[in-house]
Amino acid sequence: MIIFYILLLIAVVFITVSLIYSTVTLGISPMPSSSKAYNTMMKLVDETGSGSIIDLGSGWGNFVIPIAKRYPQRQIVGYELSLLPWFISSLLKKVFGLKNLTLHRKNFYDAKLPAASVLVCYLYPEAMNRIKDKLLFEKPKVDFLISNNFALPSWQSYQVIRLDDFYKSPVYLYKIGEKIA
Ligand SMILES: C[S@@+](CC[C@H](N)C(=O)[O-])C[C@H]1O[C@@H](n2cnc3c(N)ncnc32)[C@H](O)[C@@H]1O
Repeated sequence: MIIFYILLLIAVVFITVSLIYSTVTLGISPMPSSSKAYNTMMKLVDETGSGSIIDLGSGWGNFVIPIAKRYPQRQIVGYELSLLPWFISSLLKKVFGLKNLTLHRKNFYDAKLPAASVLVCYLYPEAMNRIKDKLLFEKPKVDFLISNNFALPSWQSYQVIRLDDFYKSPVYLYKIGEKIA
């Protein structure tokens, strides 16, 4: 019995250290978007055609799993560096048999983004700055970007939806294709 408790303790310490490490190094925890934000992002994604959907920082899979089920004919790609969230979301992908979902354990700043209808993210201001630079310099074939809560600096949004929450949090839709073409 004592071995069980030692193993449990090791697992708890490993999980805690791993989450703290990724939060400190990446600048953000794997906190999922709120359900109101998801519903709004889903509605915006509905209007982005039939191409791939890429989640920059896919966390525990709270967005990529439902969106892969909703659009079995579209390719869904998630980039996630944090070990545990990536592992859990990869497990869920297998459990639900989502063949249209690809989950990379990779830094999305270093990735060559495939052509996509839409990028989705819930990050933080400095990350939005780096994403803006990536879009301007690498010019990936991307039509739209949807960002929960954080704007692309000095980039005019096409639509902003305010959530019905305490902060009236914004969800931004950007047209990327025409700006970087
Ligand atoms: C706030 S969570 C959002 C999760 C999910 N997209 C959602 O909306 O529920 C942000 C995630 O981005 C991941 N992340 C941050 N920077 C990253 C990077 N450069 N490469 C890959 N993942 C990153 C973090 O580990 C975290 O899990």
